[in-house]
Amino acid sequence: MLEFLRKEGINENLIKDIEKFREFYKVEPKMEYRIPKPKYNYYGNDVWEAAITALLCGENLLLVGSKATGKNVLAENLSAAFGRPKWDISFHVNTDSTSLIGTDTFEGGQVVFRNGPIYECAKWGGFGVLDEINMAKNDSVAVLHATLDYRRIIDVPGYDKINIDDASRFIATMNYGYAGTRELNEALTSRFMVINMPNISNENLRKLLKNEYPHLREEYVDQFAGLFKDLQLKSENSEISTKSVDLRGLLASINLMDKGLAPLKALQMGIANKSFDDFERTLVEDVIRLRIADNLGRNDIFR
Ligand SMILES: Nc1ncnc2c1ncn2[C@@H]1O[C@H](COP(=O)(O)OP(=O)(O)OP(=O)(O)O)[C@@H](O)[C@H]1O
Ligand SMILES: [Mg+2]
Repeated sequence: MLEFLRKEGINENLIKDIEKFREFYKVEPKMEYRIPKPKYNYYGNDVWEAAITALLCGENLLLVGSKATGKNVLAENLSAAFGRPKWDISFHVNTDSTSLIGTDTFEGGQVVFRNGPIYECAKWGGFGVLDEINMAKNDSVAVLHATLDYRRIIDVPGYDKINIDDASRFIATMNYGYAGTRELNEALTSRFMVINMPNISNENLRKLLKNEYPHLREEYVDQFAGLFKDLQLKSENSEISTKSVDLRGLLASINLMDKGLAPLKALQMGIANKSFDDFERTLVEDVIRLRIADNLGRNDIFR
């Protein structure tokens, strides 16, 4: 991961500081399996440098952005770069303090405390990914206030107060304004440094495509990156919604093409069909047809 950061031209001082961090904070061998080995690299140097700096300063991060802007990929990449075990904690309407911190259970006729993921993460110096944090009810995450601010503790009623390991950080993600999401209250937001996640740049998308599909013909690296840009522009001009501006869908479509599905069909499934409205879907299909001919086959696209 650090090699990747160097290659991307991330500030060398930051990389050196990460190396010092890793040197200083050792990982318990039995937790090493939790250190991620990312499948995808996150591309975007401004975001990388902002995120690394905040984490080095001991801050927690809140990544805000629309779908498929790489929030989870970045969180995973950051855990890998800092060499920390990672806990993924999905938030939803029923998230409460017991699902985060832990709960009493019976074991061999005795009541024992079963550690929740936040507790485990805090104990082992992990990076905790608080995924879709604004899906939870505000009062049920209030239990995290002391965890996320300078107190760095978990106070479980009836049990010991535990201190959060110095190497632990929390990285929350959220989509703003989607169905089912809530406003994050100010007290919680205040405990994070916030990064607005941009859509991937054209240059970085080309890099990603080349890296992910080394056998993709150069011409189609350009066409797919261009297609994503076209869709973004149409959506920014309110000609279409954001439903089809879906990088995840584009990448999945390319996988299907690689398997042999006709390119146009694949893009229909990954992109166009995500607009359920007939009129909008037709608009999206027109955008696709401008770059991808009807009769293209797999060998036109891949070497
Ligand atoms: N800047 C980027 N660099 C690398 N990959 C990216 C970037 N932006 C998006 N992606 C790609 O988009 C896909 C989705 O990424 P990820 O799951 O992290 O998105 P997300 O922001 O968490 O989305 P959601 O809000 O839908 O959960 C991945 O395949 C990822 O590689
Ligand atoms: Mg996500």
